Amino acid sequence: MKRASLIALALLFLVAGVGISVVVDAAQPAASKNPEAAKPAEAAKPAEAAKPAEAAPAAPKPAAANTFNRLMIPRADRNPPPLKDGIHDPEGPGTSSLQPPLDAFATMPKSNAGNNVNWVQAIKDKAINPRYDRLNPKEEPMVLDLDIVREVKGFMPDVVYPHDRHTEWLDCSNCHPDIFIPEKGKNTISMAQILMGQKCGVCHGKVAFPVSECRLCHSKKKDQPKAASTAK
Ligand code: HEC
Ligand code: HEC
Ligand code: HEC
Repeated sequence: MKRASLIALALLFLVAGVGISVVVDAAQPAASKNPEAAKPAEAAKPAEAAKPAEAAPAAPKPAAANTFNRLMIPRADRNPPPLKDGIHDPEGPGTSSLQPPLDAFATMPKSNAGNNVNWVQAIKDKAINPRYDRLNPKEEPMVLDLDIVREVKGFMPDVVYPHDRHTEWLDCSNCHPDIFIPEKGKNTISMAQILMGQKCGVCHGKVAFPVSECRLCHSKKKDQPKAASTAK
């Protein structure tokens, strides 16, 4: 019963999400806009009842898959300032002094997806400088230049997983061995898993470019069938 109503709520949000967010925006312009799933609940409540701030800072999310996926948030609501992002404590003394993401992104190289920053280019341009040495001034990044090609059955180009563009930011232990066994071909990966927030989807769609950017991953043209085999 409870599960059924959660699913109904999730469906309602999916179907009517846009309409409801317009109503919420008009009724309470500066009210806390939790970008996650809190909107249907807010809209349904009368205004006075909508401030149990001390008791429950963030409404519990419905048990839908991967609700943190940016693609599920209307574009205008993405990258809200810290006071409204539902992550930072709005009562916290430091929260209002944090730089809003959109200010920080303003001068970054652009992309059309995710949070609209091309982070790979940003590292190349030195627009950002990951702090390997925060804890140890002598620490050096361990950038691994190793591409792994994963052949894809069917029409899609093959996937090239580039270690270099990942290890410029990430440690080996961010992926090995919990997400991927470090051995070519030892892992089964599918789009379904990625969309559900597993494998590459642990990051892509959450903190790295989203799944909509097919060609960034599916970047290798299939080897053309050899002339010899057609002649046969
Ligand atoms: C963002 C995730 C990620 C990070 C970070 C990462 N790897 Fe990997 N690694 C992979 C994936 C994906 C594969 C391919 C697995 C497969 O094909 O099943 C792989 C494969 C490997 C392999 C097997 C290569 C082969 O030919 O069999 C080695 C060795 C490896 N990684 C070492 C490292 C080291 C060392 C680091 C840190 C410098 C590192 N990896 C960081 C994702 C990662
Ligand atoms: C973050 C990287 C990434 C992105 C983005 C991505 N894919 Fe994939 N895709 C993969 C990986 C990894 C596999 C598994 C390849 C293998 O079999 O090892 C895969 C497999 C597939 C397959 C084979 C069947 C299956 O479900 O596994 C299809 C079809 C596919 N992708 C289509 C797409 C389409 C269409 C898009 C864009 C909407 C897309 N992919 C975006 C990484 C990605
Ligand atoms: C631990 C987090 C993590 C995992 C797991 C992960 N990635 Fe990434 N990936 C990143 C980050 C961070 C970047 C750089 C930021 C960005 O491009 O959004 C990146 C960048 C990339 C790029 C570079 C795109 C470009 O513009 O050049 C490709 C390709 C890619 N990832 C494919 C994959 C594939 C395929 C998998 C799964 C086999 C995977 N990633 C798994 C975090 C991850």
